[in-house]
Amino acid sequence: MTITIVIGAVWGDEGKGKIIDYLATKANAVVRCAGGPNAGHTIVVNGKKSILRLIPSGILHKHITCIIGAGTVIDAKVFQEELDNLKAQDVSYQNRLALSQTAHLIMPYHIEVDKYREEDKNNVKIGTTKKGISPCYEDKVGRRGIRLEDLQELEKAEILAKKNLAYWKNNFSIKTTEEEVVNYLSEASKVLVPFLADTSKQLNDLIDEGKKIILEGAQGSLLDIDYGSYPFVTSSSTTSAGACVGAGIGPNQVKNVIGVLKAYSTRVGTGPLETEIFGEESDRIREIGREYGSVTGRPRRIGWLDLPLLKKVVKLNGINYLAVTKLDVLNNLDVKLCVEYKDGKPVYQSYKWNIDSEVKDWRSLPEDAKSFLRKIEDTVDVSLCLVGFGPERHQTLWLERKVLDGV
Ligand code: GTP
Ligand code: IMP
Ligand code: MG
Repeated sequence: MTITIVIGAVWGDEGKGKIIDYLATKANAVVRCAGGPNAGHTIVVNGKKSILRLIPSGILHKHITCIIGAGTVIDAKVFQEELDNLKAQDVSYQNRLALSQTAHLIMPYHIEVDKYREEDKNNVKIGTTKKGISPCYEDKVGRRGIRLEDLQELEKAEILAKKNLAYWKNNFSIKTTEEEVVNYLSEASKVLVPFLADTSKQLNDLIDEGKKIILEGAQGSLLDIDYGSYPFVTSSSTTSAGACVGAGIGPNQVKNVIGVLKAYSTRVGTGPLETEIFGEESDRIREIGREYGSVTGRPRRIGWLDLPLLKKVVKLNGINYLAVTKLDVLNNLDVKLCVEYKDGKPVYQSYKWNIDSEVKDWRSLPEDAKSFLRKIEDTVDVSLCLVGFGPERHQTLWLERKVLDGV
C-alpha cells in the first residue's frame, strides 16, 4: 500500500496545498481527484505565493508526476492560465502532467448558467464560486456531458455541445452563442489534448512499481454532494472514498488518510456553521488568517473548531491522522474549542497561546496550545501527524515522521 489521501476535513481551505507540497518531497506522484477551478490551493515558498486551481499541488517539485483524474471538471482557459503561470515561474511540466481522458469539460454555458442561478432571487442562495461546476456535473450525470476525449473528434464534440447549449437555453435566458461554443472547443482541444491519458491505468502501473502516491482532495468533506450539508455543497465527491473513485484506484491501496483542519473553522458560501462568530473577534481572525476565498476573494465566515462535527468527519472518511494548521493565527486571542453540544448549543473550553514563528519541536509549543491539540486527539481518537504555525514550508512540525517517510 503506497497511497496517502489528503483531504480537507471540514469546509475546505484548511491548507491542503501546503501539506501536499510538503509531503511531495518524499512521493512520486500527486493526483487531483475531484472538483474543478472552484478550488484554490495556495503554496508559499520563500515568500513567493502560487495558487493552483486544477493542477496538483506537487507540481513545484520537479520529480513529481502530476495527474488530474476522471472525477474532475476542467476549464480549458483556467488550465492554460495555470500552465502560463508555471512557465513564468520556470516550472517545467512537460512529460509529467497528465489529464484523464474521461474528465469532463466545463463549457462557457455552464459558467453562465451557474452565475444566472446564483444571482436569481428566486433560488436558494448556495454561494457558488460561479465557475460552472454544478451545471457541468449535471451534464455529466445526465450522460450528455463532453468528456476531454471528445475533443479528439471536434465535429462530434460540436454537435454534442450545440445540443447541450440548446438544452440550457431552453431553461435559462443565457447569451452564449453557438459560435462561442465552437471556438472554445477548438481552443480547448489545442490546450488539453496533448495531456490526455488513461490516468487510472497510469496510476495503477505506478502502484505496481511500488511508487508513493498522494491523492489530493479538493474543498472539504462537508461540502460533499452526498454527505455534506446539502444543498449547501459542491457537486463532487470530496470524501476520501470519492478521492479513490476520482483517481481510479482501489481502496485497498490506501495506507493513510490525512484530514486537514484549521485550529478554527471557516466557510465560504451559505449553509450551517454552528460555532460561527461575528464582530470584532471574527474580523480579527479573518484579517490575520487572510480568510478571503483564493478563487473569489469573498470574505470567509469564521467560527470555532467543532469537535463533535470533527468526530463525524473522521468516521466518514476513515481519517487516521489529523493535520492542524494555522495555530499562529489565534496567537494572543481568547481561543475557544467546541467540545460538545448541550440542548443544541455548543459548549466551549478556552485556551490562550502565543506560538513563536520559529518553533522547532513539540516541547517548545506553549502549554495551552499543547492542551488544545491533545483535546482534539483525545476527543476524536486520532493522532496528529502535523501542526502548522505559518504559511511557509518550514513553519510546520511533523509529529509522526513515519507518515512523511511512508507516503
Ligand atoms: P481548497 O481546496 O480550496 O480547500 O484549498 P486549501 O486547503 O489548499 O487551502 P487554501 O490554499 O485555500 O487556504 C489556506 C491558506 O492558509 C493559504 O493561504 C496558505 O498559505 C495558508 N496556510 C497554510 N497553513 C498555514 C499555517 O499554518 N499558518 C498560516 N498563517 N497560514 C497557513
Ligand atoms: P461550487 O463548487 O462553486 O458550486 O460552490 C458550492 C459551494 O462550495 C459554495 O458554498 C462554495 O463556497 C463552496 N466551495 C467550492 N469550492 C470551494 C473551495 O475550494 N473552498 C471552500 N469552499 C468551496
Ligand atoms: Mg482554497
